[in-house]
Amino acid sequence: MNVLVTRRLFDGVLDPLSGNDVDVWEGDGPIPCRELLARVTNVEGLLTMLTDRIDGEVLDAAPHLRVVSQMAVGTDNVDLAACTRRGIPVGHTPGVLTDTTADTAWALLAAAVRRLPEGWDHVREGRWGPWDPGLLLGGDLAGTTLGIVGLGRIGAAIARRAEGFDMRVLYTGPHRKPHLEARLRVAYRELEVLLAESDHVVLAAPLTPETRHLIDEGALRRMRPHATLVNIARGPLIDHDALVRALTEGWIARAALDVTDPEPIGADHPLVALPNCLIVPHLGSASVRTRRAMAEIAVENLRRGLRGERLVHCANPEVYGGSDVSS
Ligand code: DGY
Repeated sequence: MNVLVTRRLFDGVLDPLSGNDVDVWEGDGPIPCRELLARVTNVEGLLTMLTDRIDGEVLDAAPHLRVVSQMAVGTDNVDLAACTRRGIPVGHTPGVLTDTTADTAWALLAAAVRRLPEGWDHVREGRWGPWDPGLLLGGDLAGTTLGIVGLGRIGAAIARRAEGFDMRVLYTGPHRKPHLEARLRVAYRELEVLLAESDHVVLAAPLTPETRHLIDEGALRRMRPHATLVNIARGPLIDHDALVRALTEGWIARAALDVTDPEPIGADHPLVALPNCLIVPHLGSASVRTRRAMAEIAVENLRRGLRGERLVHCANPEVYGGSDVSS
């Protein structure tokens, strides 16, 4: 069968697809839309990245497509409803990246709260003088309140790590999860209440029409002036214009972003110049082990889809006429 893989992957990862005609986009960076449209005409399987927009136009250009397999847990770049209408299952890679992404959330939170990037600039720029009792004082993690927006796999893993910091943990989301509350020692709050009660807020919710700009001006104004906002989910959860004002005018103390809107963010974006905004280039799941595991699951999803078998993890289980018990 014909397969298109939209990015070069790790050595040996595509071996399970031998026997198929595998076309790998070898260019630097994401496959351009025009190139994608031209290359999908005869493909039965498509292995995608979160940088590829898989919409009705791409699906129309790929009349033989049997499976889309995304090497990410998030699938907001894929029109799931359009895939479902065409009977195309969409694979994704939940589970394997949970711990790595939760670790990144904590790395960002700790770095921002304790002002580590400013400290590093201080040293690099030769400004480190004698020890100063008032130098670069930040906030605390121990004994503070952490608010988690989205208590899915990653949100829960973030909550588990909070125990080591003796933190009170609040969560919010579309549904209350009583079965997790005792186990994780977390308490549910409506979003507005969570924002007002938390010293640190971490966004771990998927991007949907409901969560786009969930953190807008009103939300930012509800947060505490000493609060830290961390986003390891998707950039558009935050209204970035409002965030610039929040960080400049002191509605909140600092932000740490693994994801931005747009992505990549330009070096001339106002957020990049702010000392109280730490930004890294979408590294949430970027460990050697995890990225390889994601690629392996994506390949397995693709292999199964090509054979008409149920995917290991399917983002549109309704395509099977039921719920996805595996993911
Ligand atoms: C995902 O998987 O959705 C992350 O954003 C990339 O690891």
